[in-house]
Amino acid sequence: MDSTIKRYSNSRELATALAEEFALTVRQAELQDVECFVALAGGNTPRLFYETLTVEPFVSMINWSRVHLFWGDERCVPPEDEQSNYRMAREALIDRISIPAGNVHRIRGEAEPQREARRYEAEVRQYVPAGRGSLPQLDWIFLGMGEDGHTASLFPESALLAQVGTVCAVADHPQTGQKRITMTLPVINNARRIAFLVTGDAKRPLVEKIAAGRPEVIAFPAARVVPHDGVVEWYIEDPSAGR
Ligand code: 6PG
Repeated sequence: MDSTIKRYSNSRELATALAEEFALTVRQAELQDVECFVALAGGNTPRLFYETLTVEPFVSMINWSRVHLFWGDERCVPPEDEQSNYRMAREALIDRISIPAGNVHRIRGEAEPQREARRYEAEVRQYVPAGRGSLPQLDWIFLGMGEDGHTASLFPESALLAQVGTVCAVADHPQTGQKRITMTLPVINNARRIAFLVTGDAKRPLVEKIAAGRPEVIAFPAARVVPHDGVVEWYIEDPSAGR
C-alpha cells in the first residue's frame, strides 16, 4: 500500500490545500445526495486547518448539514478543559459554522472511560455505514503524529495495537498516565481516506520512512495505519517544497 506525501512550504499553504480537498469532498457528497462521515484529529496541528474551513472561500462552499463529525481520540477531561480535543475543534471550527448539533458526535471526556468507550463505539456504529467486517467505514479520518510515532491515542508498544474488530478503546498516555478514548486500528484502517497532518522539522524524517514503507519503522503506530481499501495521504510542511 503506497502512501502519498503532499509537501507544502508552510502550514498555511498546507491548511488551504487540505481545505480545498475537504470542500470538494463535501460537494461530491452533496451531488451524490449522501452524507460525509469524518473523524477529526486532536492536538495542535489541525487547528489552522479547522480555522481555514471557517473563512472564505470555504465557509460558503461547504454544506455542513452533509457532514457528521467524530473524533479519532479524546483526552478524558471535561469538554471545557484546555486539553480537550473537542474544545479545540469547537473554538476553531464548530462555533464558527452552521452544522446541525446532531451531526457533532463528541467523545464525552468527562465520563467514566470504559463506559464512554462502549458508548462511543455504539454511537459510531449507529451513524456510520458499515464497511469491511461490518465495522464502520468513515469517509475521511484526519490524524496527527507524535515524535514517537503515536497517532490518535495509539502509543508505541500499546496492547491496543493488536486489537481486532474494535472501534475504540481506553488508552493510557505513557508519560502522564492520562486516560484517553481512542479509535483503534480496525476502524481506522476501514476508512476510505486517511490524512495525516504533520508540521515542523522534527517529525519529517519519521514521516518519510513511514510513507516509504520502510520495514524498520513498522512498529510505530502511525506505520500501522494501512487501510484495507482506502488511501493514506501525508500532508506535511516542508520548507524545501516548491524549490
Ligand atoms: C492528541 C492527538 C495526537 C496528536 C499528536 C500530534 O489527542 O494529542 O490525537 O495523536 O495528533 O500528538 O500532536 P500535535 O499536532 O500537537 O503535534
